[in-house]
Amino acid sequence: MCGIIGYVGPRQSQDILLAGLSRLEYRGYDSAGIAVIDGDGGLGMRKRAGKLAVLRDDLASTPLADGTTGIGHTRWATHGGPTDANAHPHLADDDKLAVIHNGIIENFAELKSELVGEGVAFHSETDTEVAAAMIGREYVRTGDLVAAFRAVVSRLEGAYTLLAMHEDHPGLVVGARRNSPLVIGLGEGENFLGSDVAAFVEHTRKALAIGQDEIVAITPEGVEVTDFSGAPVEVEAFEVTWDASAAEKGGWSSFMAKEVSEEPEAVANTIRGRIHEGRVEIPELDGMDAFLADIDRILVIACGTAAYAGMVGKYALETWTRVPVDVELAHEFRYRDPVLSPRTLVVSISQSGETMDTLMAVKYARSRGAKTLSICNTQGATIPRESDAIVYTHAGPEVAVASTKAFVAQITAIYLLALHVGRVRGAVDPVVAVEAVTELEAVPGKIARVLETEQARIEQLAHWMADTRSVLFLGRNVGYPIALEGALKLKELAYIHAEGFAAGELKHGPIALIEPGQPVFVVVPSPRGSAEMHKKVVSNIEEIRARGARVIAIAEEGDAAVLPAADEVLRIPLAAPMFEPLLAVVPLHIFAMGLAEAKGLDVDQPRNLAKSVTVE
Ligand code: M6R
Repeated sequence: MCGIIGYVGPRQSQDILLAGLSRLEYRGYDSAGIAVIDGDGGLGMRKRAGKLAVLRDDLASTPLADGTTGIGHTRWATHGGPTDANAHPHLADDDKLAVIHNGIIENFAELKSELVGEGVAFHSETDTEVAAAMIGREYVRTGDLVAAFRAVVSRLEGAYTLLAMHEDHPGLVVGARRNSPLVIGLGEGENFLGSDVAAFVEHTRKALAIGQDEIVAITPEGVEVTDFSGAPVEVEAFEVTWDASAAEKGGWSSFMAKEVSEEPEAVANTIRGRIHEGRVEIPELDGMDAFLADIDRILVIACGTAAYAGMVGKYALETWTRVPVDVELAHEFRYRDPVLSPRTLVVSISQSGETMDTLMAVKYARSRGAKTLSICNTQGATIPRESDAIVYTHAGPEVAVASTKAFVAQITAIYLLALHVGRVRGAVDPVVAVEAVTELEAVPGKIARVLETEQARIEQLAHWMADTRSVLFLGRNVGYPIALEGALKLKELAYIHAEGFAAGELKHGPIALIEPGQPVFVVVPSPRGSAEMHKKVVSNIEEIRARGARVIAIAEEGDAAVLPAADEVLRIPLAAPMFEPLLAVVPLHIFAMGLAEAKGLDVDQPRNLAKSVTVE
């Protein structure tokens, strides 16, 4: 749950580290720190509890001595609360060695008592300081930082990325990873390490992905990667497809506001290059036809918003592939005894590609003989690297903790996957497939219209509702996961009670929650799809209205049936029913953001949450 950066090269490292940390802050933001080897070969370190701005201000008033080798860390506390002492870096070998860490070292207590027995004193409650002390102890024996890493990593259990530097070796940063991300950025006469490419994309778009259980040493001249036993390994090179400006706020009040505005683009970019003469052909799946033609089950695993994208995807996958589909929360899947076979396709969905619950579920599915396909938004991330196939979403970097543009891109990718697999299996009528493609291609323009015509009104509504203490969301069929997503966003951003229900479930219990003034958002299906379903949802609205609910309906343009029943109607453009989720979710994203802003809350970094949940 932390962000990590390392730099070696000719430039002063402090600014590079701070800029990289500000792009990594979405990974954790309860404390931050940097260490730099200065021109005289001394190691300077500063770390502060609080957001990165606290460290930045501190360094501005009392800067560290300049230096061209450095490491930086932005933390999300796991072992030990967010204090100055627990912030990273942690020092060892008489403060000559600095270490930063992402992850959890599960056997740290046992290792710590061994070190305490040897007389080592600790200054924090972290597991990281234990790793630092162990690396320091090994370094003292050999004077070789890479060898010290090699000796220590085999004793650490759990998940970790570790970076270290020692004042005896200016121009060298060493890193290791197990179950936690680390990528290399290749510059001209300078090199970088980062939790993800956002750390260094401002300086280079050339990157190398470090594999599981590998150690890397970077110097200004080069990069060496070995496995934990010291054998050299081949690393996979890739080009980052977005630039630094894509990760900047660019004049918006928040990253979330910017990212909601990018929802049309996220869908358009995810479609790009995957439709040829009206047919969906995903180039990344070339060579998989025989397998896809033979699958007898699809299981979608994900967490949070990504799981809701999976729930929407189930409707499309079953309709267009005629293969049975289950959707399961990754952390639930992981600890049961599932029935999987080599004919099962397990599709994971993850924006970050680093969610530990999803990663572990993917590994578990593979160990049980299933083939895995990752839908992911982050190049070089761990989940795609651990999967048999990858379909990237191209939403661009998502920085705000609340997932928005990645959600619409995930639904887009799963629809593309459904049409691709349906074509390969001959399960989807080619005319139906062409109509679906036409609908999908029209989605970006329709989302843009929702933003244009409804955003200001929704923000106003959110402002009026700033004191609301509870909001309910109802949806049916593909609208049901959208109701869940609307509720999750509101909890996450505005810290108020919010629940999503399947509209048909109302009479089985939730209707008891309705009392005068209770706001309820209802996602209304198009009357042009199933007239029956539309009628039922309109009756649901009437039922709750009769009990005093304040109904805010999200309905397609021209649907007059909702007018007498609803207090407010937010309009979305006409679309085939399968594509409505991509439009209906937009007002809900705007509403949650608007309500949080009206309450004066930090919409980009809500309390208690991190963007990427890299612990189980
Ligand atoms: O990076 P991932 O897509 O794997 O993240 C999964 C969830 O943690 C994430 O969607 C979370 O629910 C969001 N903060 C919701 O807005």
